[in-house]
Amino acid sequence: MGSPFILPRPASLQDPLRIAVMISGGGSGLEALLRFQSKEQRCHHTVLVLADRIGARGLSHGKNRSIRSIGIPIPDNASKSENRLAHEKLIQTELESSKIELVVLSGYMRILSPWIVKKWKGRLVNIHPSLLPDFPGAHAHREVISAGVSTTGCTVHLVDEGVDSGPILAQKTVPVLPEDDEKSLQERVKKVEHLLYPETIDLLCSGEFSL
Ligand code: GRF
Repeated sequence: MGSPFILPRPASLQDPLRIAVMISGGGSGLEALLRFQSKEQRCHHTVLVLADRIGARGLSHGKNRSIRSIGIPIPDNASKSENRLAHEKLIQTELESSKIELVVLSGYMRILSPWIVKKWKGRLVNIHPSLLPDFPGAHAHREVISAGVSTTGCTVHLVDEGVDSGPILAQKTVPVLPEDDEKSLQERVKKVEHLLYPETIDLLCSGEFSL
């Protein structure tokens, strides 16, 4: 069973939760969350954007809103496991110095090690582009299409020490069309992700979930 999940404190409009969003690519999910947060006053705000590459395109979404947005590349001066540990230590330092209360993985393409998951367990969320527990891993859309299923979707879940395996907070379904390729399916699923993830984060920060 491992270490317990400790959920974020219930936040309020007067005392919003401090969120960090972690990305690897274009950050359309990050942009959707930032738009959701800027439309009206929320009980959470994004104060930090981290990417695992200096050149991650999505960093611009944070920078455009004057949010601290930095790429932290993987060091390459030691063994693979030492580099990974050094990278995660840099991430942890940033999260601590920005007094982060909830970490939102939004297209972050690296698996976090158990030591850092343990530190954030219950305050670390992810969105995955399939109806978990079906099609975990990095190639969900490809596998959905080759399996020939007619429905897929997306899942928001708490992150545990496994891969795409933590407690599910919310899911939404999307049809798979006969003419779909990976790209068309990804676009359809992303549209739904951009609604589901901000709404679910809002409920989590309001104290609506219990385990
Ligand atoms: C999303 O589909 C998310 O579910 C997956 O990676 C994609 C990220 O897209 N984990 P973007 O970088 O937010 O555009």
